[in-house]
Amino acid sequence: MTPPSIAARAPLPCLVRTPPSAATVPRYLLKVYWWAYVHPAAVRLFEREWLVNLILFGNYGRLRDAALAELGESVSGRTLQLACVYGSLTPHLRRRLAPDAHLDVVDILPVQLKNLAAKMPADRRVNLVQNDSSCLACADASYDQVLLFFLLHEQPDAVRRKTLAEALRVVKPGGKIVIVDYHRPAKWHPLRPLLTLVFKYLEPYAKDLWMRELREFLPPGAQFKSVQQQTYFAGLYQKLVLIR
Ligand SMILES: C[S@@+](CC[C@H](N)C(=O)[O-])C[C@H]1O[C@@H](n2cnc3c(N)ncnc32)[C@H](O)[C@@H]1O
Repeated sequence: MTPPSIAARAPLPCLVRTPPSAATVPRYLLKVYWWAYVHPAAVRLFEREWLVNLILFGNYGRLRDAALAELGESVSGRTLQLACVYGSLTPHLRRRLAPDAHLDVVDILPVQLKNLAAKMPADRRVNLVQNDSSCLACADASYDQVLLFFLLHEQPDAVRRKTLAEALRVVKPGGKIVIVDYHRPAKWHPLRPLLTLVFKYLEPYAKDLWMRELREFLPPGAQFKSVQQQTYFAGLYQKLVLIR
């Protein structure tokens, strides 16, 4: 099986502008997350579903399926996934694509795009593109759905806000934005002390999602037809679904 090709700065059907810095790896990724995503050894270590599931305390399958359920049993139209993820989310999403559907997966790191390509068979409906989620080379209102799975907690405040603004910009009116990420857990949650340490030393931006609701990072005045939030595992995780 030939894996899908990676279009590094190559034209997406929706591509209308390529900012000069579009494929520059952000400093926070190199400085904070080199051990998780940038180093090739990181990919070899973390690309194991059982390990991702362990990191999410056994909730990986449930959260992946909750995200996919929002996109539908059969996913039609144009879908944008912002950032690659370890595990089987994208292969599962690909299997749900309707025959005339289209999926673009954007990530800033070629090593992550190559890893994702190796997990899936060639599929002309799927495009893997090197691009920055906070500065997308895509036309306004060009996607029916945008999916963000555990991306926002890894981004500094300003980048997170830009990523959300970009998601809003590229989704069509009536289109859906599905976000799955961390949330402030209940006070009594037994994992609070452990995660406080993990966030302090390894994931310095993640605590933002404990301090504030995700919708507070959306552009001021953004209008939605509906906003639905569901929390999981005593509040530690959330799914936020926005209809533009
Ligand atoms: C989606 S997040 C975390 C996923 C989750 N921890 C997992 O793998 O199960 C990780 C990905 O986000 C990508 N990423 C981080 N900042 C980005 C940005 N500004 N633009 C595009 N991709 C970005 C990283 O390169 C990495 O592949």
